[in-house]
Amino acid sequence: MTVPLPIVTPLAHPSSGPSSLSGLGATVTHLDLAALFDPAHRTPGKARSTPQFKALEDAVYRYKVVVVKHQDRLAPEQQYEVVKAFDPAAQGEQGHNNATVEHKGQKSLLFGIGNAIGTHPEVKLVGGGIQSERFGGRVLKQADHVAYHKHPLSETEREAGLTRWHRWHMDAALFRTSLPLVTSLLCLATPSISPDGVRNPRLTVRWDDGSGLEMEVDAGSTGFVAGTAVYEALSDEERRWCDERFVEYAPWPYQWNGPTRGNSNGLGTFDEPDNTMPLDDLPPWDPADVKTYPLVWKHHRTGDKALMVHSVAVRAIHHPPSGTSITSLSEIRSRLAALQRKAFVPERICAHAYEVGDLVIFDNRAVYHSATDYPDRFGTRTMLQAHVAASFDPK
Ligand SMILES: [Fe+2]
Repeated sequence: MTVPLPIVTPLAHPSSGPSSLSGLGATVTHLDLAALFDPAHRTPGKARSTPQFKALEDAVYRYKVVVVKHQDRLAPEQQYEVVKAFDPAAQGEQGHNNATVEHKGQKSLLFGIGNAIGTHPEVKLVGGGIQSERFGGRVLKQADHVAYHKHPLSETEREAGLTRWHRWHMDAALFRTSLPLVTSLLCLATPSISPDGVRNPRLTVRWDDGSGLEMEVDAGSTGFVAGTAVYEALSDEERRWCDERFVEYAPWPYQWNGPTRGNSNGLGTFDEPDNTMPLDDLPPWDPADVKTYPLVWKHHRTGDKALMVHSVAVRAIHHPPSGTSITSLSEIRSRLAALQRKAFVPERICAHAYEVGDLVIFDNRAVYHSATDYPDRFGTRTMLQAHVAASFDPK
């Protein structure tokens, strides 16, 4: 029997806002990943070489954010095999390695972002509210912006329907292991639908950075912005500046920046002195584990140039031709924020509104993403997240 190829449909209106310029997003239908990666029928290696998987892989690299519909029955073991199939040489370690551990009483910046589900360490439960019996009925607190932004919205503003971009980022440990090629998020419950099955009102994301920008999203949406768009939004002079620079990430980056707070638009660290952990207080590290990446990446598959940097974890910007470096955190923060800011506008953002059963797979080396939070009374959010550390670093 011939299995039909999946149908890939570009999102005509990929965002809940005016996103005609984002160039992101496609839905994939007629693909049953639970059947394709069913160990009773074929090995993961065989699944990877099927035309169905190749079509999915092509779609992810072409559209950068792909929504595979109706994947409710995908088991965590299979979700893990799907992301690993994008990088068969990967060792299979979870993409954040041990970046989330607490040290000397200081919580990592990634504290609470992913919860173990007991069956597969590379697949994490992400969300908020009362979880189903499958996850022990536990109650999760959503990782909202209130605990992270220096100047969060008030409770009254949040109840009135306002929200923020939590933190624009790539999924990466930025230390010891290489950042994952793709991330997948399987939606099992969404706060866009109330516990009574009624659609909740949409929320307004406010930038609160003096720009006056705002954008409507469905509750619990994830926003995406292409790194190519960030690069293209630069002036010629800025592009030349970026092309020659490398960023050095801190050792134990999320323990180092654990005490820091974010800007209201979700981009970068709120600048205040002495708010990182002193290097001497971090756990011991091997200098070979520190990551230094170009500021501009050439994509391993498409060859596209993208400005990709997780600015909250950068400790130095190097310019090899002149042998000079910027090490003032204040200057690093303001420079990177200025370079990135132009592309983080509503028309460049694809804000996916989840439906139960959506498996979103995104190109983690081509897009930034950010969560949005929502009033707790909207209901439960349940997502299973999977990514694995890659077999090579970006270049
Ligand atoms: Fe993430």
